[in-house]
Amino acid sequence: MCGIVGYTGRQAAAAVEPSTRPLEVVMEGLRRLEYRGYDSAGVALVAPGFDQVAWAKKSGKLSNLAAVIDASPLPDATAAIGHTRWATHGGPTDLNAHPHLADDGRLAVIHNGIIENFAELKAELLDQGVTFLSETDTEVAAQLLARNYRSAGNLTEAMRITATMLRGTFTLLAVHTDNPHTVVGARHDSPLVVGIGEGENFLGSDVAAFIAYTKEAMELAQDQIVTITPDSIDIIDFTGARAEGKRYTVDWDANAAEKGGFSSFMDKEIHDQPQAVADTLRGRTDASGHIQLDEIRIDEALLRSVDKIIVIACGTAAYAGQVAKYAIEHWCRIPVEVELAHEFRYRDPIVDAQTLVVAISQSGETMDTLMAVRHAREQGAKVLSIVNAHGSTIPRESDAVLYTHAGPEIAVASTKAFLAQITAAYLLGMYLAQLRGNKFSDEIDALLRELRAIPEKVETVIQRGEYVKATARSMKQATSVLFLGRHVSYPVAMEGALKLKELAYIHAEGFAAGELKHGPIALIDEGQPVFVIVPSPRSRTGLHSKVVSNIQEVRARGAKTFVIAEDGDDTVVPYADEIFWIPQAPTLMQPLLAAIPLQIFAMELATVKGLDVDQPRNLAKSVTVE
Ligand code: M6R
Repeated sequence: MCGIVGYTGRQAAAAVEPSTRPLEVVMEGLRRLEYRGYDSAGVALVAPGFDQVAWAKKSGKLSNLAAVIDASPLPDATAAIGHTRWATHGGPTDLNAHPHLADDGRLAVIHNGIIENFAELKAELLDQGVTFLSETDTEVAAQLLARNYRSAGNLTEAMRITATMLRGTFTLLAVHTDNPHTVVGARHDSPLVVGIGEGENFLGSDVAAFIAYTKEAMELAQDQIVTITPDSIDIIDFTGARAEGKRYTVDWDANAAEKGGFSSFMDKEIHDQPQAVADTLRGRTDASGHIQLDEIRIDEALLRSVDKIIVIACGTAAYAGQVAKYAIEHWCRIPVEVELAHEFRYRDPIVDAQTLVVAISQSGETMDTLMAVRHAREQGAKVLSIVNAHGSTIPRESDAVLYTHAGPEIAVASTKAFLAQITAAYLLGMYLAQLRGNKFSDEIDALLRELRAIPEKVETVIQRGEYVKATARSMKQATSVLFLGRHVSYPVAMEGALKLKELAYIHAEGFAAGELKHGPIALIDEGQPVFVIVPSPRSRTGLHSKVVSNIQEVRARGAKTFVIAEDGDDTVVPYADEIFWIPQAPTLMQPLLAAIPLQIFAMELATVKGLDVDQPRNLAKSVTVE
């Protein structure tokens, strides 16, 4: 939700290389952060001699802002902030776009998050004669900061005082014409990282904001204020005490966050999937082949005594958790509950020191999941997070983290993170089975071999994608699509429906195929498209024939059937209008293959409908509000 970037550079405003100009640095950062929100965008610049902040903002995508700046160029500057918005308070209009100005136009503020007490603060400021131009909560923070700056006479201290007056979640960045080389940021339950340069420093919602310029980064903890100048990074906490950030080097480069010749980030990320699975598996065994998850710093005795696992996650990550439930229960004989993170803490869950809570999140910033993590830890549970984005908040607030190595996922619709999450959760399941003695090492070896065979099979499914795309193009008129799966493919069916909803704006629902006869079959009418994921005929679940019967049942009622079946499973041929073949794989590995035709179908249908594949309407990549 909202992308934030800040920059200050020593050499700027002189005769400098164009790429080091603050405006260009900030626009490049916004381009890379646009996946976080794209309702509007804006920039604010300061330099010595400015009596007012120079700014531009525009509703809609970043290209609209770029056009505004092209038409009315902004002056060179020494420090800049930029914002790309996912609207919360106030519609996506020009006026509500960030930055918001105060102190007679000498101060500019951008914000990510929600200020919950903004109404009372606004009332107080209105009483004091302050006027507001927008409907946003951010403008309240800007006016408050201006008031505190007037009394404190120091931007960092004013930001600190302001931060302690706000309730809710926020990252705030500010520039003031009195401090033309400085950007000040505050962080409370919303992401902010520092990029470390030479003679220049950066702030960003995530490292993508500055990855084009530096791979050296610094984590900030919660409730901290950071002040950057070209040569310094100073951190204090909300009490004013000095603090240190944790330095790290980003392990991917700017190219990883480019489309690399693909038509969309989603297309690229679908093609990244073999690598994402392989990289997530890499280095997780010792010389004798035992699973070794060094990152997991939870006491082994405690892991042996765990009597329940609760997976908390949202959206696609929750479906990955549901897939993992089947595997972990089967391998470890521990009950696994999977709960949507936003439901978890509001239902008084039964959680104690014997509970292992597994939080799954691509971004590591999803507020619902973060809040559930905190709740679980307050109840005494250990929390292990499975996260893709290094340096994000959820791993820092967890007892242990197992990183997925999918690389940056930019498209709003999650693809490679899903496969990497399943892979990491499977590794965790195998590790627990090994630790608790549920599986002999040769059994673990066999499972690992099955997993290691997956990247090549994923590649095969992707190569067959043209047929899926052709089918999608013929479905342009579809208004509703149903997805059926059983056992481990039930969450995959729901994931297929989610992809279609968010990308092609089509009504879509995923069902457990066995539930069909209990109601949903009434939806089947002449021509109703129904995707069915068929288990392997070799599956010991015995579900193959039952799902094939389900295909016949819907077809008998007029459905058009799109069947995902294993190579060589000729039993499905008579009942399928279209078949998407996937390579043979053990039952628990099938989700890693069956998800792919569903991703490609949704992407192509969105494309033929002329929709924005990477940035679907109303959405944002990381949901940092509850
Ligand atoms: O970053 P997270 O994995 O925590 O995000 C969770 C969901 O918001 C995310 O998976 C969302 O459902 C995707 N847009 C699905 O494609």
